[in-house]
Amino acid sequence: MKKILVLGAGGQIGSELVPHLRSIYGANNVVATDVSSARCEKLAGEGPFELLNALDGKIFNDVVRMYRIDTIFNLVAVLSATGESNPRMAWNVNIGAVTNSLHIGRENGCAVFTPSSIGAFGNDTPKVKTPQDTIQRASTTMYGVCKVAGELLSDYYHYRFGVDTRSVRFPGLISYVTAPGGGTTDYAVEIFHAAVQEGAFTCNIKAGTYMDMMYMPDALRSVVQLMEADPAKLKHRNSFNIAAMSFDPEGIAAAIRQHIPDFRISYNVDPVKQAIADSWPDSMDDSCAREEWGWEPTYDLPAMTRDMIEKVREKLSKSK
Ligand code: SER
Repeated sequence: MKKILVLGAGGQIGSELVPHLRSIYGANNVVATDVSSARCEKLAGEGPFELLNALDGKIFNDVVRMYRIDTIFNLVAVLSATGESNPRMAWNVNIGAVTNSLHIGRENGCAVFTPSSIGAFGNDTPKVKTPQDTIQRASTTMYGVCKVAGELLSDYYHYRFGVDTRSVRFPGLISYVTAPGGGTTDYAVEIFHAAVQEGAFTCNIKAGTYMDMMYMPDALRSVVQLMEADPAKLKHRNSFNIAAMSFDPEGIAAAIRQHIPDFRISYNVDPVKQAIADSWPDSMDDSCAREEWGWEPTYDLPAMTRDMIEKVREKLSKSK
């Protein structure tokens, strides 16, 4: 990776992946792009930025050529819950961004990374220690349908055209820089802000609902590690299960109580989000990622909770 383009740079992952990549590969070698310049003010001040709608193949291709890009990170996504309020829009955006990335990647000799997700699994998938290669009838969300299609298309472009496509299935990502929007796992981010500000949180996911989660620093490391991995060692490509922790709302509430003893959790379950969460794995088996490219998480639930509370406190005290 020498010249990198990031699509959807202003989102939850991009707002942290761009600075991470810039710290490794040099600020001028990482071009941030997004449909909104407002949410990329900071990134635009630190290195190259282009206003770009990934669905506009002509401008997308022009930007790739202009900067002589060799690696595309496609982080454009309408998440699971938002996708259910407008499935057609979710299909158009999610699939448009992945097909354009693959096509333009092929034309310009670029490696392409499009994240997949726990959402690529469905009700028929084994829930506990979900295997790397298993049933993926992810038909409970349009988001999941798009993630499965994106995995297949990415593998197809690799086998058919030799495009260097690689990807991971992210768990729910927990971070404090940019909020996720419209996801089912968002509660695990919102709970920290509520805990620090109010000492209480109303959760839209039922107690006892386990999902895989990961702290953003591990997610960022996983991406670079996979993209830098020796291709000869990769038996899989799109996409690798990666895991760090699995908990239910009671579990994260208990971890928060270690720091905020009076923290209270109550429930007002969102039926759409609950049905989605119920269709996703409780925990994924990430042994293929460990074997093929050395994946290993560094944050478990207590370590992530400690850091999140500290960082959210710092952020809130600065914004006062
Ligand atoms: N965080 C995503 C969502 O909840 C899953 O990858 O939609």
